[in-house]
Amino acid sequence: IFIPMISKAQFSYDLQGHRGSRGLMPENTIPAMIKALDLGVTTLELDLAVTKDGEIIVSHEPYMNPLICFTPEGSEIKDGDKSHNIYQMTFEEVKKYDSGTKFHAGFPQQVKFHVTKPRLKDLFEVVEKYVADHNLPSPYYNIEIKSSVEGDGAYHPAPAEFSDMVYKLIDSSVSWERVNIQSFDFRVLKYYNQTYPDVTLAMLITDATKSKAQLEELGFQPQIYSPYFVALNQETVKELKEKGMKIIPWTVNTTEQMQKLLDMGVDGIITDFPNLAPKQ
Ligand code: G3P
Ligand code: CA
Repeated sequence: IFIPMISKAQFSYDLQGHRGSRGLMPENTIPAMIKALDLGVTTLELDLAVTKDGEIIVSHEPYMNPLICFTPEGSEIKDGDKSHNIYQMTFEEVKKYDSGTKFHAGFPQQVKFHVTKPRLKDLFEVVEKYVADHNLPSPYYNIEIKSSVEGDGAYHPAPAEFSDMVYKLIDSSVSWERVNIQSFDFRVLKYYNQTYPDVTLAMLITDATKSKAQLEELGFQPQIYSPYFVALNQETVKELKEKGMKIIPWTVNTTEQMQKLLDMGVDGIITDFPNLAPKQ
């Protein structure tokens, strides 16, 4: 079993840049990853979608999000419009959508410039070269397979096929010692556990008050419990740590809240703002 180690960087915990550094750069883009590395993150968090021609793209939504993207013609996409479906586009078409210039009201500090959604393989190539060239520690990757029952066949392949595609690409790109797979979709986690039992897994959870039932439903113990931070408490952290699990909550965006969770004993923090992470 490969467990990601804490790197020798300036943080004694696993600092994870959410979608790279979403608070500062257009999310899930290569510049967002580079910015996160410059800020000293241990791990890059990112999400995946699949194109019609089988390319694995880094994207939170399986479609061009109206809040983030402009059409190839430079027009706005209407609020709520999910029809610019990545699974129905080739990668050539994906590259025509700008994902970097639109003002994001949730993250007004984001630097704005033209950028498109990368393929995971290109992201790996650029990131690995960047750390080698700049003598930075090799990063870990927390890779989310974004699948859901509703999306099967419409927005992405079935979970097993999606999981196999991602496995193959990672296997030929970076060391599994620096990768974990995360998913809200328990089907993905179960499939990995059965098919690729050496891969480190994180279960993504919305309600941290139900860890016992969630672990029962999953049917095995993954290495990482990764909940939305708000309902996480000391008792749950203690219980899960006693079982040998790591706790890595998301998405924590103030220094004060990060410190509170670190004091609770969490092993890592996923944040849009790695620049605000307590140095310890
Ligand atoms: O890694 C956890 C976090 O990324 C899950 O939430 O919606 O930002 O993918 P989301
Ligand atoms: Ca994610």
